[in-house]
Amino acid sequence: MGLLISPSVLNADLSHLADEVRRVEAAADWIHLDVMDNHFVPNLTFGLPVVESLIKNTSLPADCHLMIHDPDRWAPAYAEVGAGSVTFHIEAAKNARQICRDIRRRGARAGAALKPGTEITEIAELLPELDMILIMTVEPGFGGQSFMTDMLPKVRRAREYAKQSGTDIWVQVDGGIDANTIEMCAEAGANIFVAGSAVYRAQDPSNMINHLRDIAMSACGH
Ligand code: DX5
Ligand code: ZN
Repeated sequence: MGLLISPSVLNADLSHLADEVRRVEAAADWIHLDVMDNHFVPNLTFGLPVVESLIKNTSLPADCHLMIHDPDRWAPAYAEVGAGSVTFHIEAAKNARQICRDIRRRGARAGAALKPGTEITEIAELLPELDMILIMTVEPGFGGQSFMTDMLPKVRRAREYAKQSGTDIWVQVDGGIDANTIEMCAEAGANIFVAGSAVYRAQDPSNMINHLRDIAMSACGH
């Protein structure tokens, strides 16, 4: 299990989405696509047709973060169009086990995301179905918010869960990840890091991605 950087295009120039993805293609490990429906979160981005087009136009595997109502209905379709990973919010799921199975059956990794107020114990029963736990380190909905340090114990618990499960469950952090906050997340056990504004507001996004990965690697003693 390596340390992976997954830039989020949320704060990129959305009118040139394919170009913005291309800007990070050489340095990034994944591309994080934030799907928002204006119901689960108070913001609206893009949905399945845009994600499908982007997947066709990039060599990066797509890490889809669904901030939507009714993931039971919609999540499998993202796997169907070729996403490498599909993450739904546990707060919105009716039958989380079934969603994971539907995602995996279509060849993608299945992830469950937790809002800051949601206890890690909510996913305890789901571990055998999961490939990734996403710990939100801001309230979902917007890029550019400040990292919530009080989420670090939850990241540690997620890593313990992953170890106990005995399978290769990744622990992702998303929200306020930058050169100052990535180190504590890596120390706490995260291995996949979403960075939106830190990457896209940097003068050289590729350099920033490599810089972030280097910091995470040294924090883990690599
Ligand atoms: C927020 C999104 C994040 C967002 C992160 O709800 O899930 O992926 O783009 O942006 P930064 O890195 O700027 O906090
Ligand atoms: Zn996200």
